[in-house]
Amino acid sequence: MRPVEPFKIKMVEPIRLIARDEREREVREAGYNLFQIPATSVYIDLLTDSGTGSMSDSQWASIMRGDESYAGARSFFRLKDAVRSIFGYEHFIPAHQGRAAEHILFSVMVKPGQIVPSNIHFDTTRAHVENRQAEARDLAIDAAYDTALELPFKGDIDCRALEQLIDHSRAQIPLVMMTVTNNSAGGQPVSMKNVREAAAICRDRRVPMFFDAARYAENCYFIKTREAGYKDHSVLEIARELFSYGDGATMSAKKDGLVNMGGFVTLRDGNVAEKIRQQLILYEGFPTYGGMSGRDMEALATGIGEALDEDYLAFRTEQVKLLCDDLHEAGVPVIRPAGGHAVYIDATRFLPDIPASQFPGQAIVCALYLEAGIRSVEVGSLMFGKQNESPRLELVRLAIPRRVYTNDHILYVADAIKELYRKRKQIKGMRIVSQSAVLRHFTARLEPIS
Ligand SMILES: Cc1ncc(COP(=O)(O)O)c(C=O)c1O
Repeated sequence: MRPVEPFKIKMVEPIRLIARDEREREVREAGYNLFQIPATSVYIDLLTDSGTGSMSDSQWASIMRGDESYAGARSFFRLKDAVRSIFGYEHFIPAHQGRAAEHILFSVMVKPGQIVPSNIHFDTTRAHVENRQAEARDLAIDAAYDTALELPFKGDIDCRALEQLIDHSRAQIPLVMMTVTNNSAGGQPVSMKNVREAAAICRDRRVPMFFDAARYAENCYFIKTREAGYKDHSVLEIARELFSYGDGATMSAKKDGLVNMGGFVTLRDGNVAEKIRQQLILYEGFPTYGGMSGRDMEALATGIGEALDEDYLAFRTEQVKLLCDDLHEAGVPVIRPAGGHAVYIDATRFLPDIPASQFPGQAIVCALYLEAGIRSVEVGSLMFGKQNESPRLELVRLAIPRRVYTNDHILYVADAIKELYRKRKQIKGMRIVSQSAVLRHFTARLEPIS
């Protein structure tokens, strides 16, 4: 049976599919870069699931209760209690979003020349590690790079590689970062078994283990539904067990916090927390608001609980699976199995005749916008490529915002991609016309190769 939305709609925002010739003009003027297209010219926006979700009526009600006191706001204590009841760590430090949390944590813990291992670093954690003149080392299991392989936990870290790295370079490793779910590996979950094993390796060698917890609720739901021994546990119980193995976490609350802006660091170590608070005051704000307003903290305190609701999580993961399975059954190459927040098209298999140097992912992104007004994002050579070096995967990510689109929207997306797949021989490769030195994918201008 198709998943049914566990909510009804109280407020609507109109969207419109602009005409094909207008879409052609938009994409040309944007230099074939959809980051440069106004959102009003997009029909279905799958650019990201970050900060793009809908808040519930309870969250909007919470906003009215926001305490905007500079110091000691009631909303801070409510949020701190809500976070501690899930994560279980003593210290709570609010920040305006995930990368701000990474910045203040790494400023204190990471020194030049060090190595921070992870299953796979998300691009902002990688950038912040590198900003400290340290190395961000990905240690995903090999299966993470095989898009067709159907395994339940392709987000896992390679524990043998982790063990070897720490044994070889213990003095250089300030912490290990576990990303749950593993965004850059297709939103694939990490198993509790893997977390337990990685934590034991870290504990034995006295290396702190932190979570990048942006999508921890989706990860815990996959543990409940895919890992032996967890089906009768609540997702909250699973989350508490998961975090009990670590020493702290950073969180972009724009995902499983169900808010449009917000984040935090939470951890056990009081000395480190004190140093982070000094960074917080410098870069974010006073320790009882960090980078957030009182009303934002209230909305998050409510949202973080709603994200653990199992009816919501069942619908959320089933909706992603609906799109993934529908495309897979039609022969469209997508990362299997479905992950938690997005469907990823394997651009190398979609357009086998277009080499990585001609950005097959970006070619699909532009063609899909022209076909149906759908905005997706390339995660491949344009985003991660360096001179004469391509990343291991060429992907197009279709990230599904939380509680925003109905299944009819999702099926419209599926139909458009299937149609595009039938016409794939007409898609041309692309070349870069101009680009910036850092994070080029946001602003680069491209053109099709005729
Ligand atoms: C796994 C992961 N970590 C960290 C971040 C950074 O969070 P933010 O965008 O709130 O700075 C993201 C954002 O997409 C993410 O997916």
